[in-house]
Amino acid sequence: STQHYDFVKLPKTDLHVHLEGTLEPEMLFKFAARNHISLPWKNPKCLYEACKFRDLSGFLAVYYKGCEVLVTEQDFYDLTHAYLQRASADGVVHTEFFFNPQIFRKEKLPLHAIMRAVFSAVHDMQERISCLYMGTVMRTRPVEEALQALDELTPWYHQIAAFGMGGAENGNPPSRFRPYFDACRERGFRICVHAGEEGPAAYVHEAVELNVDRIDHGNAAIHDPDLMQTLVEKRIPLTMCPISNLRLNVVKNLSEHPLKQMLSRGLCVTINSDDPAYFLGYASDNWAAVHQALNLTTNEIFQLAINGIDASFLPKEQKEKWR
Ligand code: HPA
Ligand code: ZN
Repeated sequence: STQHYDFVKLPKTDLHVHLEGTLEPEMLFKFAARNHISLPWKNPKCLYEACKFRDLSGFLAVYYKGCEVLVTEQDFYDLTHAYLQRASADGVVHTEFFFNPQIFRKEKLPLHAIMRAVFSAVHDMQERISCLYMGTVMRTRPVEEALQALDELTPWYHQIAAFGMGGAENGNPPSRFRPYFDACRERGFRICVHAGEEGPAAYVHEAVELNVDRIDHGNAAIHDPDLMQTLVEKRIPLTMCPISNLRLNVVKNLSEHPLKQMLSRGLCVTINSDDPAYFLGYASDNWAAVHQALNLTTNEIFQLAINGIDASFLPKEQKEKWR
């Protein structure tokens, strides 16, 4: 029988979460109303109904539509503050969230206003939750645009821990973005990339070749034993997102999720929320769903929590404090 745990009480990390994906339907409608933006959904309930996704690109269409309601500096402050409040109440002690400035039109709201809003919410919540910021870019756009996004963030480099890449994966392998990842490295950043979510193990292999510090998702690696061995030897963590995988049909059923098998082979796998508002699950929900489907042992739960600290981009001294 399955031991019952209250995963809200477990001190957790969330290392793979998109700020834009924490926009709850109620807040989305509130911002749309105050910014006079028309939406394809009548009310929050209709949006919940639209959150039955066929695949990653079906989800991304809704997600980019949702981003259109983020217009003012206040919107970005409210969004960030509300997410940090919810994560803290959910028992997340440290979060590392992605934000993609490419999504937002600079003529609508200058980047400095967005960044000021996001970082002031982080500052206002710093007693409640530890937080690192990660820039990310879209793999469906030209690599020149990724390099431009990296340049545009120059004034905030001291507040940025890492750079990543996401978006529709198939047909957009990581290797095409080598100039971007090399530039990130040269400027002193950690790098991570979404790979092996819908894409093949070969994309995860390319991520390893790019010398990434962390792989977001990485599910497909389960099909390549040599690659699995490399991930163990190089200690490259995977930030897995079980409920996201279920909602985007990356797995048919959570009982098929590779997380437990990877853990038993010694991979540094972690549990994360990805886009909690759209996938209807925050960090603790992901832990509970995995536990219910895969019946985690106490040791496995402990290992997953430790992995969250090990895999984080916190400085070494701070990691030791958490452990
Ligand atoms: N995959 C790729 N891109 C994304 C995701 C994801 O899960 N969430 C937000 N952007
Ligand atoms: Zn993601």
